[in-house]
Amino acid sequence: MTKIKSWVWLRQIGFMLSGMLLVLWMYITPVAGQDAVKTLRVATEPTFPPFEMQSDKTGELEGFDIDLMNAVAKEVGYLVQFDSLPFDGIIPALQSGTIDAAISGITITAERARSIGFSSPYFKAGLAIAVREDNTTIKNFDDLKGKRIAVQIGTTGSKEAANIPGARIVTFDGAPSALQELVNGKVDAVVNDYPVTLYAIKTAGLRRIKIVGELVTEEYYGIAFPSNSPAIRDINFGLYKIVENGIYEGIFQKWFNNKPQQLPLIAPALVGAKADVSGITTGGGTRDTVFNLLLRRLPQGALVTLLLTAFSVFFGLIGGTLVAMGLISKNKILQWILRIYVEFFRGTPMLVQLFIIYFGLPGLFKEIGLQWSLERFPAAIIALSLNVAAYLAEIIRGGIQSIDPGQWEACQSLGMNSLETMKEVIFPQAFRRILPPLGNEFITLIKDTSLTAVIGFNELFRQGQLIVATTYQAFEVYIAVALVYLALTVLSSVMFKNIENFMDPIKRGKNKAKTA
Ligand code: ARG
Repeated sequence: MTKIKSWVWLRQIGFMLSGMLLVLWMYITPVAGQDAVKTLRVATEPTFPPFEMQSDKTGELEGFDIDLMNAVAKEVGYLVQFDSLPFDGIIPALQSGTIDAAISGITITAERARSIGFSSPYFKAGLAIAVREDNTTIKNFDDLKGKRIAVQIGTTGSKEAANIPGARIVTFDGAPSALQELVNGKVDAVVNDYPVTLYAIKTAGLRRIKIVGELVTEEYYGIAFPSNSPAIRDINFGLYKIVENGIYEGIFQKWFNNKPQQLPLIAPALVGAKADVSGITTGGGTRDTVFNLLLRRLPQGALVTLLLTAFSVFFGLIGGTLVAMGLISKNKILQWILRIYVEFFRGTPMLVQLFIIYFGLPGLFKEIGLQWSLERFPAAIIALSLNVAAYLAEIIRGGIQSIDPGQWEACQSLGMNSLETMKEVIFPQAFRRILPPLGNEFITLIKDTSLTAVIGFNELFRQGQLIVATTYQAFEVYIAVALVYLALTVLSSVMFKNIENFMDPIKRGKNKAKTA
């Protein structure tokens, strides 16, 4: 009977596996006939309205860049397939050739043109400073000295902000998070592309924010390609054609309700610069600086990672033990509440929990008239500890309940009270059983702290991202980051193994015998 059942089971797994293989195969084999029309895989970071965003209604990509790319491609007979990527991943992806092009409000700069190629400029923009409406001290770029500034990672805004003396820069994955940070009062200003900030204020209804001073820079957006990509010429031709035939004006009108600006053929940033529009790849000279950057910044990041881990384990252990006690207590209501807590924090992604605590709560408090907002560090520790405690509570509860209840009775008959029993008899045994899963949790936590990068923490992973954002050497940098994580986790494995041995009465006995 059970034999037949296990057969059915195996067959089902077989079906599932072959289904998965089929899907995989469809992904990696090119569709026949596709050669006839050239398909461009175009990357975009779609949280940059009105250039690229997800439509509220259809969920599809939309925006000025999207319309423009489709129109240009159509003009020269290309098919476009959009791919969403983080902004700081776009240039590495172009370099490695995993994508054929990118349109993402990307500013043409001489530095970027050394590692990727650009089309002719298709939009004139520039950086603007945004502050809260009640701010009267920041009026122009010079006033930003020593201020707290939020930016999007890998952007010209982040580069410009990095040059401000004494400024404390907080980096986010998307412009919306940077602006949210400003609304929540945790930074003094945001340096971001003018049209995007303006759109957020005027159209998306971002409240209590204003743009001050003159534009910090004048910038031109271009479609980006791998260096020397043959598609650049075709796309430039398409761009020229849609400007000629008025399609460009139509798209501009649609998104900006205005007549388009005059565009130069070559971005001023490239005129006289050492790079041409088709791009020249970097020589070996940058390797050394990448290495130096890694040496300088990864230890800083590792330290932040370790601090986050240590604090969260500390609070998580205390919290987890208390929750475990509650879970095995006789109080049904308490049990019930703690169950909900554990299920919530185990059952929802830590990333979401982080966002709720860091971005969500301050908004809620503002709404009800409280001026309260959590600083980055406590917010991260609270989110991580709450999450860790939920997991540890289950581990600790399981450990305690795995001890034979007969021992409680035995202790009782020896006249011990329950606190003593717990402390002297049950917990020491339970602790040994808890140790291995505790070690697992610890290792998971070390890695999970990388999630705090999304709220602007410069931990290990974010330090790596920041280095890639200026050097574009994704492979070397992320491998180095991975190795540092590995070193940290291997070290903690060893540490836990040692504690386990130490707690093992038999092994400990042997060691004592040996040394004696
Ligand atoms: N223009 C700026 C730059 O190239 C910001 C672009 C950000 N684009 C985006 N889709 N998030 O650095």
